[in-house]
Amino acid sequence: MWGGRFAEGPSAIMREINASIPFDKALWRQDIAASKAHVAMLGAQSIITDGDAQTIADGLDRVAEEYARDGVPEDWDLEDIHMTTESRLAELIGPVAGRLHTARSRNDQVATDFRLWVREMIDQTDAGLHALQHALVNQADAHADSIMPGFTHLQTAQPVTLGHHLMAYYEMIRRDRSRFADARTRMNESPLGSAALAGTGFPIDRDATSDALGFDRPTRNSLDAVSDRDFALDYLMAASQTALHLSRLAEEFIIWASQPFGFVRMADSLSTGSSIMPQKKNPDAAELVRGHAGRVIGAATALMVTMKGLPLAYSKDMQDDKPPVFEAASLLALSIAAMTGMVADSTFKTDRMRQAAELGYATATDLADWLVTEADIPFREAHHITGAAVKLAEQKGVALDELSLEELTAIDGRIDERVYAALSVEASVAARASYGGTAPEQVKLQIAAARKALDAAGGETE
Ligand code: ARG
Repeated sequence: MWGGRFAEGPSAIMREINASIPFDKALWRQDIAASKAHVAMLGAQSIITDGDAQTIADGLDRVAEEYARDGVPEDWDLEDIHMTTESRLAELIGPVAGRLHTARSRNDQVATDFRLWVREMIDQTDAGLHALQHALVNQADAHADSIMPGFTHLQTAQPVTLGHHLMAYYEMIRRDRSRFADARTRMNESPLGSAALAGTGFPIDRDATSDALGFDRPTRNSLDAVSDRDFALDYLMAASQTALHLSRLAEEFIIWASQPFGFVRMADSLSTGSSIMPQKKNPDAAELVRGHAGRVIGAATALMVTMKGLPLAYSKDMQDDKPPVFEAASLLALSIAAMTGMVADSTFKTDRMRQAAELGYATATDLADWLVTEADIPFREAHHITGAAVKLAEQKGVALDELSLEELTAIDGRIDERVYAALSVEASVAARASYGGTAPEQVKLQIAAARKALDAAGGETE
């Protein structure tokens, strides 16, 4: 039934399924850089003549100029970026181009190129996260004293400051940056010179190519080097963790921007309107950041599943390593930029936040704590007495500090008028001055430390 097209079919299908040029052309800068390092080493080691090495290096520069100007041509017959570059090099400089691939395989070549690409992406991600931290610290500084309800189970729990809440995300991003830095340190070894899988008989100098490409050292095992994609997975895991944090922050903005909350007004530049409901202003950017986290985590899962069960050394499955990494990288970069803008350009409605903190009996714990410290009542009993006070306030539809002293003393005779000082939301946050607590003085200490770390050369990554 399909025999009619079979004669032609397989080779066309083979060309298409085999081609990675549609996506791995993104590696062209790394491919040229690695080839230039390799050919310089071949010349220095007299594996090829200095003249040939120079001709090839100049030719590679010309190919790079063409790519930069016209883009990388996509010819499926040339399969990937490595063969595309070598074929164009041969057109430009003739048969001497064939000497470039001495003592090298596409297996160590692609492992090297991809590491360089991921390393560059880690550096760009770190810069983006540094900017996000700056935005968080600036808003936290402006709102170190702004009171809002703190939640557990999304139920009003205790008053906190908005500055404290935002600095919680600063901490998450600090850990994210440290994960990327960690991944960078671990991956920074050069696979070049591992050749196809077993190394090479040519007298190559792996330290020279490693140094030229900014790696810390050559990899130690050629089989591992050509089949290892841990660096890409490390990147994707760090990216997943970051995307997850950005998604949580995005979710906060989505909730806070909803009418029943009304805690924040998002910048118009990061919102959209509705084509049918004129009153609507939708937090689409935040929702997409939340959505993108699923795709980034999906990319990490995709590569893990691709790699599991592959025997040593290279298998063609590994060509599928790039699309998930490329996709995750561009989604993450956009997400970081969107959240940086959202944090920097949102207007927080602090009156409304304060009001919400007062309405939810958020200072009930303060009443219980007061009974413990001022009336020497065991905490469990104080908790019970406080429960009765909250119940009464709820019945009357008033805040805790709106109950009269008569009403409070009727619940427990040991309560006196000094309790009112403890029941305000200001007193509540000021009291939580333990290290890392929400008291404005503590939050300001953390903000100052964060600013110092961010301003230090390269910013904080520890
Ligand atoms: N395009 C290939 C990849 O991305 C390059 C390595 C090909 N090696 C091979 N032995 N076929 O993985």
